[in-house]
Amino acid sequence: MTIVLVAFVAATALAQRQRGQMRQAQAVLVARAHEEERAWVASELHDDVLQRVALVRAEIESLWEASEPRSADALEDRLRGINAELVDLAVAVRRIAVRLHPTVVDQVGLVSALQSLADEVERGSDLDVRLTADGDTATVPADTARAAYRIAQESLRNAVKHSGARIATIGVRVTERTLSLSVHDDGRGFDTNVKRVDGLGLASLQERALCVGGKAEVRSRPGAGTTIDATLPLPVR
Ligand SMILES: Nc1ncnc2c1ncn2[C@@H]1O[C@H](COP(=O)(O)OP(=O)(O)OP(=O)(O)O)[C@@H](O)[C@H]1O
Ligand SMILES: [Mg+2]
Repeated sequence: MTIVLVAFVAATALAQRQRGQMRQAQAVLVARAHEEERAWVASELHDDVLQRVALVRAEIESLWEASEPRSADALEDRLRGINAELVDLAVAVRRIAVRLHPTVVDQVGLVSALQSLADEVERGSDLDVRLTADGDTATVPADTARAAYRIAQESLRNAVKHSGARIATIGVRVTERTLSLSVHDDGRGFDTNVKRVDGLGLASLQERALCVGGKAEVRSRPGAGTTIDATLPLPVR
């Protein structure tokens, strides 16, 4: 009896320690994902927004210093140039804000948010992104919709960065109990058995699925494209 009791206490302590370690590992992953996001914001602000501000300032300075007399046409050209630069700057800042703000999904809904993500990826890469949606996505809880959006975002980012694919598809399907999200690219694929320590994206998208009680599977083989399949549970209505 004593042996059974000791074994039970030891097993409980072990299970508790393992749970604690898992929680800690998850917290580390989430913190690293936040760091990654901040690093992206920092480099985007530095490399894009600040460069554009510097351009506009230089343009205004050169206008100011330009010697008189100045033709009205030349002045108008410069002003149009500055205006176009400011329009681009607003687009760049807006893109950062939208990407950072998870409520873009809350505001426009999952399907519209995925469509603008697809449009944005198409504009910024050679990838052709096709979206299909099926079922009543309006009833998906906000947390689950945000998780699905972030999973699609990282999957597309990977497709652009690593796959060399020309076409990617995003499929969303809502049934009574689950939201299924599938992001596929027809690119070079990779060996999922090779453990990677440097990348964060795949681990972080799996973490996002876990956080809403679901799971995300990464299916890929060299030469056979990549598919991310996420299954996220929905509350019983
Ligand atoms: N769609 C894909 N096609 C080909 N290879 C991929 C694809 N997605 C992931 N991989 C491979 O898996 C690795 C791990 O991906 P993961 O998203 O975790 O990290 P990463 O993209 O390298 O870096 P991070 O996401 O942290 O910026 C990649 O470095 C790449 O080799
Ligand atoms: Mg990645």
